[in-house]
Amino acid sequence: MQQLFLHAAGYRSDLFFVSCFIPISILLVLPSPLNACSQLDRESLFSFLSGLSPTANNRLVVGSWNSSNCCLWEGIGCNANGAVTRISLPAKGLMGEISHALANLTQLSYVDLSHNRLTGTLPSALLWSSSILTLDVSFNRLAGGLPELPLSTHGGLPMKVLNVSINYFTGPFPSFSWELTRNLVALNGSGNSFTGPIPASLCSGSPFLVYLDLSRNQFSSNIPHGFGNCSELRVFQAGHNNLNGTLPDDLFEAASLRHLALPNNHLSGVLEGKRTAKLSNIITLNLAGNGLSGHLPESIGQLVNLEHLSLDSNRLSGNLPSSLSNCTSLKDLNLRANNFSGKLSAFNFSNLSNLKTIDLGINNFTGGIPESIYACRSLKALRLSANNLTGQVSHEITNLQALSFLSLSYNNLANISGTLSILQKCKKLRAVLLGGNFKDEALPDIDWVGGFQSLQILSLANCQLTGQIPFWLSKLTNLEVLDLAGNKLTGTIPSWFNTLPKLFHLGIAVNYFSGEIPQAITEMPLLASERAIAQLDPEDFELPVFLSSYNSSDLQYNKLSALPPALNFAHNNFTGVIPPEIGRLKQLQVLDLSGNNFSGGIPPQLDNLTNLEILNLSSNHLTGMIPPSLRNLNFLAVFSVADNDLEGPIPSGNQFGTFPTSSFLGNPELCGSLINRPCSNSTSVGLPPPNPVSTKRTNTELLLAAALGVTFGGFFGLGIFLHLYVV
Ligand SMILES: *[C@@H]1O[C@H](CO)[C@@H](O)[C@H](O)[C@H]1NC(C)=O
Ligand SMILES: *[C@@H]1O[C@H](CO)[C@@H](O)[C@H](O)[C@H]1NC(C)=O
Ligand SMILES: *[C@@H]1O[C@H](CO)[C@@H](O)[C@H](O)[C@H]1NC(C)=O
Ligand SMILES: *[C@@H]1O[C@H](CO)[C@@H](O)[C@H](O)[C@H]1NC(C)=O
Ligand SMILES: *[C@@H]1O[C@H](CO)[C@@H](O)[C@H](O)[C@H]1NC(C)=O
Ligand SMILES: *[C@@H]1O[C@H](CO)[C@@H](O)[C@H](O)[C@H]1NC(C)=O
Ligand SMILES: *[C@@H]1O[C@H](CO)[C@@H](O)[C@H](O)[C@H]1NC(C)=O
Ligand SMILES: *[C@@H]1O[C@H](CO)[C@@H](O)[C@H](O)[C@H]1NC(C)=O
Repeated sequence: MQQLFLHAAGYRSDLFFVSCFIPISILLVLPSPLNACSQLDRESLFSFLSGLSPTANNRLVVGSWNSSNCCLWEGIGCNANGAVTRISLPAKGLMGEISHALANLTQLSYVDLSHNRLTGTLPSALLWSSSILTLDVSFNRLAGGLPELPLSTHGGLPMKVLNVSINYFTGPFPSFSWELTRNLVALNGSGNSFTGPIPASLCSGSPFLVYLDLSRNQFSSNIPHGFGNCSELRVFQAGHNNLNGTLPDDLFEAASLRHLALPNNHLSGVLEGKRTAKLSNIITLNLAGNGLSGHLPESIGQLVNLEHLSLDSNRLSGNLPSSLSNCTSLKDLNLRANNFSGKLSAFNFSNLSNLKTIDLGINNFTGGIPESIYACRSLKALRLSANNLTGQVSHEITNLQALSFLSLSYNNLANISGTLSILQKCKKLRAVLLGGNFKDEALPDIDWVGGFQSLQILSLANCQLTGQIPFWLSKLTNLEVLDLAGNKLTGTIPSWFNTLPKLFHLGIAVNYFSGEIPQAITEMPLLASERAIAQLDPEDFELPVFLSSYNSSDLQYNKLSALPPALNFAHNNFTGVIPPEIGRLKQLQVLDLSGNNFSGGIPPQLDNLTNLEILNLSSNHLTGMIPPSLRNLNFLAVFSVADNDLEGPIPSGNQFGTFPTSSFLGNPELCGSLINRPCSNSTSVGLPPPNPVSTKRTNTELLLAAALGVTFGGFFGLGIFLHLYVV
């Protein structure tokens, strides 16, 4: 033991002497001198300690593992006989391996080593201990397989709680071992890389199981029969796996089930009415991201405790059954991205007064926005985008004083002027997404009455709106993202854009704007600031914002601050020079000025934009050379100056080694090997020192690919053009 201690603690022997023998006198004054640990237990703990990395180990020993009575050590608990029964060392920064010596602690019943950085495997003797009731090793870096119970084991094991979640475990999950864990109450294997089927014998061996979480692994094949034996099962989660087939009948016999979450698998079949009705205690039903088809059964109305229903991204069709309005506990209703149809106003929402979020986007609903929705006073987020809804937003929507997220994009709604006048009175609104409506109406100069105080994102894209950028927009001091692309707006860019302190994403592409880029743009405070945009707004939206071509939701954002800072002025009639002061906007990740009538040179000051990932200046009348210093834009992934009147050599090296020929075509006087036109010596620009080329695939690139609906490599040479479809 002396050696172990010395090894473990790195202590000098005189110190050991002191701490080992002085305590005899201390023990006399301790409250329960009899409660002193046995030498065997102490040695086992030292073995455990010596398996840990020296840092952690020193901290523990210097901290308190320094007396001979291990019952007094930090994180150690003993019973009245001085036998070690508890090890509770969560989040202590422990590194190294878990020693199987712990299995020598014969009375050990509780082990919590969660939230450390432990590596290696989980010793079989510990996993299948004959004394441990609770074993929590979650949030570590344990790897390898979970071994089966040794075949020689006789009699049952006392295990009640096993939590191995969030580690690097691989291989099949133990299957027959559960036959001997009759007391098992909670089993959590989520967040690993387990493969193979979910064990079928779980419920026959462990009939009192209450919590079962196998989500975020690579489990495959069907969900086995046998869950009907788990009469106490309340929580069953196995989302984000590769499960397939239909839901087994007897899963619906687990009558205690409160939370059933199997999202993002490959499950198929229909939600059969009789079976569904049996889930009478269900609170959460999450089968999103599967291949379910058929209708939502009428019997869903019998699930009166249902609070969270997520069936989004399946192939469900038909009307919303009227019985759904009996689910009066419902808080979150998500049926997005299915093929539901029928008049939405035929469904009466008024009884569902607890609803906080409704997402019915990307379906086939028709008719008007149901008036009854305005009775859902708790509503915080409503998405009805990408349906076939007609009519207008009613003034009653101002009843929804908690409403913070509203997306009605891509419907056939009318009366933008009425809509904005009404919505500005919803004081909590942070997101207003109305793109793809109001065809050919005029962008109004509404009577702004101090509304939209909380507005952070406004999209009126793709509405074919006429008119000019109205002045009331300058009053929206919390605005971060403004998307007016795809309209028929005219006039110049107003000079007040530098008064919006938080605006970092301005999209006005594909309009008829003219004139020069005003100085105000080059002074946009947030784009020019050194302050990270990520600090802007920590609060998540109640529903995510999706960016994509509107019917293939590719990128999902819960926070606006994750969007790339951008100026997108593409495809307008802008004239004049590209102001050199644009080089001040250090935060910019996307600058798209393509398809305009800009003339003059490319300002070398653009080399200040060191965060730039997309720079598109194609299809203008730019002259002069490509500033060689643009080579220093290390994150630049997409670049085009095609179709201008540029001359001289194409810079080489760094990112310029990665751009395709098409980025430079249509400039008769440019030269360089890339476009097969050798430069005469006098114009050649010296080769830069070879720097490593950045090949990271950035958020913006992904966004661009999503926006264009193309895969990587595919968008080069297209008239690259970033557009956000926010739905
Ligand atoms: C031993 O642990 C106790 C309790 O944490 C602490 O007060 C004391 O300073 C430690 N002694 C040594 C020598 O580290
Ligand atoms: C467990 O205890 C036995 C008996 O004292 C001993 O032989 C063995 O080495 C111990 N195991 C570990 C891993 O410390
Ligand atoms: C591990 O899982 C159990 C049972 O689900 C739970 O009680 C415990 O809080 C979990 N541990 C952590 C660190 O989350
Ligand atoms: C399982 O563990 C994960 C991670 O600790 C946790 O988020 C989840 O809630 C747990 N599941 C159950 C059913 O306790
Ligand atoms: C909407 O319904 C029409 C006709 O019922 C159908 O042709 C179309 O495929 C549906 N759209 C979607 C997105 O399912
Ligand atoms: C959507 O449902 C309609 C009938 O309501 C059907 O005609 C159409 O084929 C379905 N579309 C898809 C993509 O399943
Ligand atoms: C909807 O239900 C409420 C409450 O049950 C009722 O008062 C109202 O008349 C119904 N509305 C419609 C349009 O049926
Ligand atoms: C537009 O909406 C406003 C406000 O609800 C209303 O007063 C006005 O009559 C509507 N205009 C049309 C043409 O429907």
